Amino acid sequence: MNIEQLFENNKQWIAEQLKNDSEYFNKLASGQAPKILYIGCSDSRVTAEEIIGLKPGEAFVHRNVANLVNNVDLSVMSVINYAVEHLKVEHVIVCGHYNCGGVKAAMQSADLGILNPWLRNIRDAYRLNKEELNAIEDIDQRYDRLVEVNVKEQCINVLKTAVVQRAVKDRGLTVHGWVFDLRNGEVKDLNIDFQKHLEAIREIYRLD
Ligand code: CO
Repeated sequence: MNIEQLFENNKQWIAEQLKNDSEYFNKLASGQAPKILYIGCSDSRVTAEEIIGLKPGEAFVHRNVANLVNNVDLSVMSVINYAVEHLKVEHVIVCGHYNCGGVKAAMQSADLGILNPWLRNIRDAYRLNKEELNAIEDIDQRYDRLVEVNVKEQCINVLKTAVVQRAVKDRGLTVHGWVFDLRNGEVKDLNIDFQKHLEAIREIYRLD
């Protein structure tokens, strides 16, 4: 790829925006008020905004390998804190995807060096759902299901934070678990009952 082309693309994009709205960049510079916090995978094929038709300013975004919400990851914790407490987003979306390399790596017995502690979070998601996963004989189907249960566990991790617990109670913040299917482009809602999960973990994780 010619890196200079990216600057050409940028010039074209600026011209397009200004053609549609001469005030576009003045509005963009005036501040942000996104309603959505999107937590997704770093995978190059899963662009946060494009697949769900969002424009600049509409989603606060955090992406990492396998869309993990780890309580000692200062980056994701800062993002959640800022988006929920200060930007006051209305929805938190954790979006995984099938064919996720991070999830696949966590299903294999191999020493992956620096990736080990990161991918251990997915192995933990596997352990917590081991009976269901091991009952699936077909390895591809099991892989798909691990992608889904990983999203569920990361939604639960979102619910363990004090800011989210407060925002759910005080202003009706909602938490959603989705999976993007690269094979047909569809975004699937896992219909995670976050209220039920919050209630279930409250006994141990309640912070509000
Ligand atoms: Co991925």
